[in-house]
Amino acid sequence: MDNGQLVKSISEISKKEIPLLYYYPKEVERAISDGRLITVCENGKNIGFGFWHSYGNWIELSTMYIAPEFRGKGYLHKLIDAIRLKLQDKIPNLLLFTQAPQVVRVIENFGFGPASLSSLPFSVLAKLILHRLNLRRWLSYAKHMKNIPRVFKTRLYVRRAS
Ligand SMILES: CC(C)(COP(=O)(O)OP(=O)(O)OC[C@H]1O[C@@H](n2cnc3c(N)ncnc32)[C@H](O)[C@@H]1OP(=O)(O)O)[C@@H](O)C(=O)NCCC(=O)NCCS
Repeated sequence: MDNGQLVKSISEISKKEIPLLYYYPKEVERAISDGRLITVCENGKNIGFGFWHSYGNWIELSTMYIAPEFRGKGYLHKLIDAIRLKLQDKIPNLLLFTQAPQVVRVIENFGFGPASLSSLPFSVLAKLILHRLNLRRWLSYAKHMKNIPRVFKTRLYVRRAS
């Protein structure tokens, strides 16, 4: 898969899959060039991905995805391990929003715990909101209409720098 196909496929998956934050193609390209997109491969095929995004001394992990036919086989561990490896020298505070019990299970092993939005610095909260209010992303929120109760199950998890 060339870079253009990878960008298109990741952007489309993030747009369609309900729990994921939509990354439009330019953002996926930027994440690749900044080294903020981590992929999981099996036999040379991309079967999963996750992003990270920096807000000062906080990093948000987001849009963790494993292709349906590879779920339940431990690939999320591989994805999180790859992110850990990538961030190990520059880990400040980490945060992640999720409603997926599999994600909670894996990140708890990485030292994440539940937290309230009010525990985040205001500057980080403001940037998180701005990131989500991007006009192109707004259109993608229509997918949540299919499963509103799930949106309300989303919780914040953080791992503070020790
Ligand atoms: C969520 C998702 C990434 C999980 O990936 P996966 O590769 O199937 O996850 P794994 O098989 O590695 O499972 C992770 C852990 O969760 C555990 N687990 C599975 N179901 C669970 C449940 N209902 N409750 C608690 N833990 C559960 C597994 O046992 C495993 O832990 P273990 O290895 O210590 O036993 C994948 O299902 C997906 O892409 N879903 C759609 C997108 C999504 O919801 N992303 C999350 C947005 S943040």
